[in-house]
Amino acid sequence: MKTIIEPFRIKSVEPIRMTTRERREELLAAAGYNVFRLRAEDVLIDLLTDSGTAAMSVEQWAAMMRGDESYAGSASWYRFERAVRDIFGFRHILPTHQGRAAERLLFTALCRPGHVVPNNTHFDTTRANIEATGAEAVDLVIPEGWVPSAQHPFKGNMDVARLRALIGERGREAIPLCMITVTNNSGGGQPVSLANIREVSLLCRQHGIPFYVDACRFAENAWFIREREAGQSGRTPLAIARDMFALADGCTMSAKKDGMANIGGFLATNDDRLARVETDQLILTEGFPTYGGMAGRDLEAIAVGLFEALDEDYLCYRITSTRYLGEHIARAGVSILQPPGGHAIYIDATAFFPQIPALELPGQALVAELYREAGIRSVEIGTLMFGKRDATGREQPAAMELVRLAIPRRAYTQSHVDYVVEAVAQVFERRESVRGFRIVEQAPSLRHFTARLEPKPTA
Ligand SMILES: Cc1ncc(COP(=O)(O)O)c(C=O)c1O
Repeated sequence: MKTIIEPFRIKSVEPIRMTTRERREELLAAAGYNVFRLRAEDVLIDLLTDSGTAAMSVEQWAAMMRGDESYAGSASWYRFERAVRDIFGFRHILPTHQGRAAERLLFTALCRPGHVVPNNTHFDTTRANIEATGAEAVDLVIPEGWVPSAQHPFKGNMDVARLRALIGERGREAIPLCMITVTNNSGGGQPVSLANIREVSLLCRQHGIPFYVDACRFAENAWFIREREAGQSGRTPLAIARDMFALADGCTMSAKKDGMANIGGFLATNDDRLARVETDQLILTEGFPTYGGMAGRDLEAIAVGLFEALDEDYLCYRITSTRYLGEHIARAGVSILQPPGGHAIYIDATAFFPQIPALELPGQALVAELYREAGIRSVEIGTLMFGKRDATGREQPAAMELVRLAIPRRAYTQSHVDYVVEAVAQVFERRESVRGFRIVEQAPSLRHFTARLEPKPTA
């Protein structure tokens, strides 16, 4: 059969409130043309993020009813620990309220000023947590990973030659750990091959550098390995995931992605001494080591969700439906970051609106148009998010102007996806009439969350 179907049926529905174009126009203006300021109930299709937005299964809800809320040694903790160890295999598992808490524990234990931490591409919280320790975060993805139109089956791979050169230049002592992010979210949700993980692991071992995986989308990465890597077809995503983690010394995980949960995460390591230091810090800021920042019921939802994320029918539907969205948008003539990634489609806003200069925020113009046209919420990943002032105080644009359509897990159906395709195509048809924006109010950091904008007047 060619038709992709959702491998589930719907038992509990959450109504979407329809709005008119006129009403959305008013809401957009009241929100200062910043969709982070909208109420979720005024959004028809919410593609702001795939993090913490999954629909849980009947098995997860059932498991939550079993949640043991004992402060110490709850049965839920032991079920969580068993599930995590079964897949990830590490000796020590520290529960945390979400991924960035695991990052903070890991980096504060290992990083100091003068240190450098390589990754294929650091996610923004990863980079921020490294930089908060005074260390430097460097991105070493392969050259294709920097070019939106470049095709490569594993565009998230680490550039091993550059990693080797970095170790040669800075020396092992300056590199407290090396990371690899699967899939590479900041590079478009692109996968990393098992061969590349093996090469990086080997190089790190030769130099005695601990090697960690940022595991948020490990199941989607395992699926891409099975589909694209020689010798891997027919293997189960679980077997591939185990191989990935057997090559590492530990991992950080946000269970809000491939944990299929609405909150939660963990840090894992094979290093006994480090685990002791991290556990002391965990108690200080997250909670007792058998719950971290989570309720017993959250631990239960994750213990079930991790295995559901590895289900072959689910992964086939997940990756195929993301690709479907990307291919149909591209077929309408819109440039997207190629090839479609696992959890999101990224539209090239510079190509979409060539008449809007980067400093007039073409990505944000597209975000606003998608909401105005069809009530779709997306996110700008461009100059509004990453623009910086230079030494003279002049605004410098970001490297790329992208708009991300992130797909919540199991939450939307094929007809929702078709609706998004239609909306993007309609905005594309009238693209020449769209204007850019001017920022009228902004915070000194992370301005995209709260900024207020106004449309540039017509010339
Ligand atoms: C690759 C990656 N690492 C880390 C994180 C941080 O996880 P959390 O949002 O749970 O703190 C995210 C979240 O989007 C991510 O995509």
